[in-house]
Amino acid sequence: MRIVLLGAPGSGKGTQSQRLIDMYGVPQVSTGDLLRAAVAAGTTMGLRAKQTMDAGKLVDDETVLGIIRERLAAPDANSGFILDGFPRTIVQADGLNMLLESIGKPLQAVVLMQVDPQQLLRRLTGRRTCRGCGRVFNVYTAAPSVPPPCGGQCVTPDLFQRPDDSEATIGKRLEVYEAQTQPLAEYYRGRGLLHAVDAEGDIDGVTTRLIAALRTAGAA
Ligand code: AP5
Repeated sequence: MRIVLLGAPGSGKGTQSQRLIDMYGVPQVSTGDLLRAAVAAGTTMGLRAKQTMDAGKLVDDETVLGIIRERLAAPDANSGFILDGFPRTIVQADGLNMLLESIGKPLQAVVLMQVDPQQLLRRLTGRRTCRGCGRVFNVYTAAPSVPPPCGGQCVTPDLFQRPDDSEATIGKRLEVYEAQTQPLAEYYRGRGLLHAVDAEGDIDGVTTRLIAALRTAGAA
């Protein structure tokens, strides 16, 4: 499976990636997660990226392409990958094409996760992440059932809100998505790779539609 999950912030790319990992055993490659890990580690690149991320803007293409080149060279990506949050600009998409052509592993499908903007705001303001295991919940739509969350996997449940999930920053992220990332839908449609999926409604239903689209594309 070699796919891209394309969609606005909060469209469910991370949530659905977790399910595909469990079902198909391929790694999720999330540039957002990789950048947040660099921020947490306090690397020079992470410190540079943090301000940009907190402002809801995009980190520069060169940095992101460097991260992807390194990640896709790791052994676990030999069997395939789910790209989540990458590419986000035409320059990144061109860079990805060149990289995948050079290793003879072209993309099989790009799935556009479609969600109404009002739903996105609710999903993002309500998102909470468990510091212990990284699982993502939502105070409105997918709250942890009984404490401790994570079915008891975490000894000390500790939910936090991402700094870029404030209402002001969400507005900026959605603007940036519309201006810089949405054009990728046409880019991939023109290459015969785009499959649009209705990403509203319950999470299981979205997974069913996503897998159907991946099967149609021959990616699952
Ligand atoms: P990144 O981490 O990639 O964030 P994003 O694209 O904004 O996407 P999110 O992680 O916010 O949303 P998601 O679609 O994964 O939704 P989720 O499944 O969590 O990027 C962060 C920043 O890093 C960027 O702003 C940028 O600065 C930088 N960056 C990253 N990649 C970059 C790149 N390539 N180039 C340049 N800069 C880059 O779901 C959201 C919530 O909704 C959760 O609470 C979940 O429980 C809930 N939910 C999910 N599905 C459903 C459903 N069906 N029904 C109800 N609730 C649902």
